[in-house]
Amino acid sequence: MIPMKIKPFGVEEWMNEYENDAVYNLGETCVKSLTVKELLDLQGQGKKALEEIYAMQLTYGTIPGTDKLRGEVADLYKTAKIPNVVIAHGGIGANHLVFSALVEPGDEVVSVMPTYQQHYSIPEALGARVRILPLRLENEFLPDLSELKKMVNEKTKLIAINNPNNPSGSLMDKKCLEEIVAIAKDVDAYILSDEVYRGLSHQGEAFGPSIFDLYEKGISTGSMSKVFSLAGLRIGWVVASEETVKEINVHRDYNTISCGKIDDYLAGIALEQKDKILKRNRELILENAKIVADWVKSEPRISYTKPKAGTTAFIKYDYRIASRDLALRLLRDTGAFVVPGEALQQEGFLRIGYANDSTSVREGLKKISQYFRILEKEGK
Ligand SMILES: Cc1ncc(COP(=O)(O)O)c(C=O)c1O
Repeated sequence: MIPMKIKPFGVEEWMNEYENDAVYNLGETCVKSLTVKELLDLQGQGKKALEEIYAMQLTYGTIPGTDKLRGEVADLYKTAKIPNVVIAHGGIGANHLVFSALVEPGDEVVSVMPTYQQHYSIPEALGARVRILPLRLENEFLPDLSELKKMVNEKTKLIAINNPNNPSGSLMDKKCLEEIVAIAKDVDAYILSDEVYRGLSHQGEAFGPSIFDLYEKGISTGSMSKVFSLAGLRIGWVVASEETVKEINVHRDYNTISCGKIDDYLAGIALEQKDKILKRNRELILENAKIVADWVKSEPRISYTKPKAGTTAFIKYDYRIASRDLALRLLRDTGAFVVPGEALQQEGFLRIGYANDSTSVREGLKKISQYFRILEKEGK
């Protein structure tokens, strides 16, 4: 990637600074992470796997990622094959590769907001003009496609969406995605869909439709971190047309070489066992999403759109206090850790990650309620 000046990453700075002080971690966006033992127990051949790791010579390994891992990733899509898969350093590395390979100064990029900040700050830093497509609470955090239509033109290189959406948990269905494809096709733009939460739909099939399966210029990014509870592996991917993969690999050679051999190996095992992991994770998020729903119902001065997928809920509050102050006071005085809307350029909101253990979620929300009573006494 070309050296560039870039804005600080709001959410990541917040997490770096404060997450370690959390007693009740409602900032976490991964479904409660697995230990190596838990992962190998799911597979039932832990001893053999550990022996293979002991014997592993720590070379760079298979540079693009093993066929085993790339094949397992391809299986998460209806039409992907191994050559469509680029293994990257997490979803964050995957997104970065896509932008650096495709976006140039003078291009236009459309990004939804709120979303993961990479999608507007990286293209901006690369010299593109970024247009923001707002996702609003009134519209259940889904895009207004007539607005999108007006934003695109022949300079639009890429439309960046995040489906399921962090922070709101909204989910674009196939019809909505097809409409976005039609708009992109009209101007020959790529669509990058950050799908790191795909696999965590609360109802119906766990894996909703992917942009890769709907559009030849559709690019999907994904990761082991959230859905598969293995953020510590730092394995993510891009799934794109072979032509786009070629362009991405030019950049990958400059910043990745390969991903870790042990990480590749363990990610392969996890994807082999995906049904078991997804069952565990869906049970956990459904239980915790209900705790959040009951909490929202019990609190008269907050509102949200019930998440349809993913691990986060975006709560609008009606108290006269800035979100950063509120989040800092919550952490300092109660140990409940949330992400302030300000870090996502959305003042007046708090992001609640509810995929950690249920006790932490329940107790953390109780603490926030107690704090709301204090704010009321203060006349806020
Ligand atoms: C939407 C989105 N994309 C990408 C990432 C990066 O995650 P990772 O690099 O662990 O896959 C995150 C992490 O919070 C995210 O929320």
